[in-house]
Amino acid sequence: DTDISIKDKATFKVGAAVKTSYLKNDADYKDALIANFSQLTAEFEMKMESIWASENNYNWDAVDYLVDFAQDNNMEVHGHTLVWYRSFPSWFKNQNNDSIAFEAKVKTYITDVVGRYKGKIKSWDVVNEVFEDGGGMRNDDVIAPLFNDPIGFYGRCFQYARDVDPDAKLFYNDYSVVIDSGKRNAIKDMVTRFQEKGYPIDGIGAQFHYGKSTNMGTIIEGFNDLSSIGLLMHISELDIKMNTNKSDLFVFSNAIAQEQSDIYKEIVSMYNSLPESQKFAISTWGVTDNYSWLLTEWHPKEYPLLLDSNYNKKKAYQGFILGLN
Ligand code: G3I
Repeated sequence: DTDISIKDKATFKVGAAVKTSYLKNDADYKDALIANFSQLTAEFEMKMESIWASENNYNWDAVDYLVDFAQDNNMEVHGHTLVWYRSFPSWFKNQNNDSIAFEAKVKTYITDVVGRYKGKIKSWDVVNEVFEDGGGMRNDDVIAPLFNDPIGFYGRCFQYARDVDPDAKLFYNDYSVVIDSGKRNAIKDMVTRFQEKGYPIDGIGAQFHYGKSTNMGTIIEGFNDLSSIGLLMHISELDIKMNTNKSDLFVFSNAIAQEQSDIYKEIVSMYNSLPESQKFAISTWGVTDNYSWLLTEWHPKEYPLLLDSNYNKKKAYQGFILGLN
């Protein structure tokens, strides 16, 4: 099984989050991406704070690079993410727009970005992480102060994306959605309201930043509940933490590697049992353990992905393959 590639064996796209800088500077990274993945997601470069330099002025270079790279290497691109409270550029936040002016500018941004990559970026996380744990509307410092009914604003953002690229698949993306029934119910309510008002939505992204301590039964129950909505399902940011107590003495032993492999196998097998019509992609949040966001955000001794720091296939990679059987 060592020479089988996950992207060739899966009947759905297998994606990875990438950074332009790694792609430009690390040939082994580029080779591993091409060999193992059929879709890429920009870990940062397609967010507002990276593209939206100032009013009507955009940084396209890093996005163009990723889109051109994907086209040259027969890979799809998943756009992440058009509207995220954490990614509004500071120059924009400081303009103190009223809700009408704010939404008009966001509409222009969505129209310009989705329009530029029409037919090249075939799916977008239009909106990311708008619910608090438990399902309440997020009390952020950008959207919440302007809209007492943010769901309407978010629905219109989906419409703006649809209007400019009718063929792009439009996703809502969030974390903890399969382990937090409150969040899941909030997502179901939002989808129902969108559909009642005629706002478009094609899919749900469940990030899956989980770990060995996450109960697999809970994951499977929550995923089945969420997929019962009937939309495309994207496991969008999969990584599996094993150093759950953040120990400096942690060793990624063979036994722990096998445990991680079994978790990947169960998650892939669960996803693979979706109806074909709901399969979109499984994307890992990174290509190699070495560049995982978790090394800075969680603990330096963490090994969450499918390829190790030398781009060798880990037991987790074999677990992914077994989950496809
Ligand atoms: O590249 C710039 C550099 O030019 C600048 O000088 C420096 C100082 O601001 O920032 C650099 O950008 C960093 C960027 O990653 C690229 O490396 C940002 O500081 C840093 O905040 C950003 O972190 C990303 C984070 O989202 C915020 O955008 C992480 O890499 C990325 O893994 C993380 O991904 C999120 C998903 O989008 C949504 N779901 C949760 C997930 C983890 O937080």
